[in-house]
Amino acid sequence: MPEDVEARRALGHNAEISRMFGAAVPVTATMTHEAAARWIDRLDQEGVVAWIVEAEGSFLGSARLHSFDGRGGARYAVGLLDARRLGRGLGAETTRLVLDYAFGPLGLERIELVTLEINERGRRCFERCGFRTVCRVPDAAVIDGTSYDDLLMEVTRSSTSRWS
Ligand SMILES: CC(C)(COP(=O)(O)OP(=O)(O)OC[C@H]1O[C@@H](n2cnc3c(N)ncnc32)[C@H](O)[C@@H]1OP(=O)(O)O)[C@@H](O)C(=O)NCCC(=O)NCCS
Repeated sequence: MPEDVEARRALGHNAEISRMFGAAVPVTATMTHEAAARWIDRLDQEGVVAWIVEAEGSFLGSARLHSFDGRGGARYAVGLLDARRLGRGLGAETTRLVLDYAFGPLGLERIELVTLEINERGRRCFERCGFRTVCRVPDAAVIDGTSYDDLLMEVTRSSTSRWS
């Protein structure tokens, strides 16, 4: 929708957020209308279940389930793109809603995600939602010339009474 494109454009690129996504050189910068439109278009891909996240009536980011493996597993990715609204519980609320849908209507058994070891805010948010770290991938990203590990995290339907 045009208002989503404009809202995405208005948030632009934020260095702190780009760093958590593993950008090689995180920068704070404006975004063009065309780049914002491409960003919105990419949500609509075959084999991906995607949501635009809104909070308090305005655009905040996206959440996606992708890489469905046909055996009850899928991967989760989330990005809240307004630095002023991070760390206020909105990521945990988004993640719980996605897990409700994944373990409910979608009937999935296992959701994985990958996050950088330096993303403490993300790790704590995901742990609060039931994810546990199952392995570490060394030197998965190089940011500003320094390499960092990825953490592979997982939550299963059976690991929590909420969905069993
Ligand atoms: C990761 C993300 C979804 C988390 O959502 P959020 O709304 O910011 O996080 P929440 O407020 O739900 O939870 C944050 C947790 O980290 C803590 N926290 C908040 N700010 C923090 C900071 N600067 N450093 C470390 N921990 C922090 C909070 O206390 C909370 O932990 P608790 O539940 O144990 O108290 C969101 O920050 C985000 O999208 N970030 C940018 C992109 C990204 O990192 N995506 C994930 C890649 S896998």
